[in-house]
Amino acid sequence: MVRFCHAPGISRSGVHYGVRGRTPGEGMALADTPQRVFQRGTWPGPISLRRGWARAEARPWNDAVDDATLRLVRGGTGFIDACVQRLTHLGAPSVYSSPLAPSARKPWESAGFVEFLELALMRLALEPPVPAPCHLVVRDDDYDVDQMLSIDRAAFDPFWRFDRTALVESTQATSKSSVFVIRDGDLGITGYAVVGYGHAISYLQRVAVDPKWQGEGMGRSLVRAAARSARRHGSKALLLNTQRDNEPALGLYEAEGYVQLPESLAVLKAG
Ligand SMILES: CC(C)(COP(=O)(O)OP(=O)(O)OC[C@H]1O[C@@H](n2cnc3c(N)ncnc32)[C@H](O)[C@@H]1OP(=O)(O)O)[C@@H](O)C(=O)NCCC(=O)NCCS
Repeated sequence: MVRFCHAPGISRSGVHYGVRGRTPGEGMALADTPQRVFQRGTWPGPISLRRGWARAEARPWNDAVDDATLRLVRGGTGFIDACVQRLTHLGAPSVYSSPLAPSARKPWESAGFVEFLELALMRLALEPPVPAPCHLVVRDDDYDVDQMLSIDRAAFDPFWRFDRTALVESTQATSKSSVFVIRDGDLGITGYAVVGYGHAISYLQRVAVDPKWQGEGMGRSLVRAAARSARRHGSKALLLNTQRDNEPALGLYEAEGYVQLPESLAVLKAG
C-alpha cells in the first residue's frame, strides 16, 4: 500500500531490536501484558511494531495532534489490537488507520476501529498528453524541507498539516519520487508538489500553495508538472486522495481532468 496525501508512510529509521542500551519503551516486548509486541524506535517518533510475522509502522499523526497513525504492513485483527494497546500504553489518545480501501477494512473493524473520515480517490489518465504548466515549475532534488513545511503550515488546517516526519515519509513512500517547486525569486518557494512514481500508477502525494499566492494558477502548474513527470516515467495514471470537503483541491483536480473513482478510502479510528 502506497502512501499518498495523508496516509502514513514507510518508516526507514534503522533502529535495532536489541534490548542493550535501549531507551524506555524501545526494543522490548511487554511479555507480562497482552500486547506482546516488539517495538523498534522511540515514541513519540516513527516506530516499527512486530510480532512474529506481523509488522506495522506507527508515528504521531503530526506535531499538532498526539494521536497515532498506524500502517499495517502485514498481520490481522489480533496484531492490530495489540498495536493499539501498545500505542495507548505509550500515551496516544487515539489511533488512526492509514487510508483504507473497503476490502482492507475488515480486520481493523474487527479490532474495534470505526470510520472516522472518508477520502475521495481521484485518477488522472495519462494516455493523453498533459498541458504544460503556466509557471516555471522546477524539479528540486535538493529541496528545502523547512520551506516546504512552512508552506504546508500556512496552507493546511492543523489536523492535515505535515510535520517533518510525515513530509519526509511522503517522499519515501515509493522507491522513487520528485519534489516540484515554484520559486519566489531568491526568497523561497510559493508552492510545492510531491509525486511518487510506481510502474503503471504514480501518486500525487501532496500539493500546497502558499495562501498569499493561491488563485494565481500555481496549483494547476504544480499538478501539471507532477502529471507530466509521471507520464515521462511511463505511468498510465496518476492517483491521489483528498478530503471530500476540500473544495479548492477538488475543483483543481476536476478542472485538470481527474475523475473521482467510485471506491473511496476511509481513515478508521480506535480509542
Ligand atoms: C488546492 C490548492 C493547491 C489550489 O492551488 P491554487 O494555486 O490556489 O489553485 P489555482 O489558482 O491553480 O486554481 C486552478 C483551478 O482550481 C480550482 N480552484 C482553485 N481554488 C478553488 C476554490 N477555492 N474553489 C473551487 N475551485 C477552486 C479552479 O478550477 C481553478 O481554476 P480557475 O481559476 O480557472 O477557476 C490550494 O488551494 C492549496 O494549497 N490548498 C491547501 C492545501 C491542499 O488542500 N492541498 C490539496 C490536498 S493534498
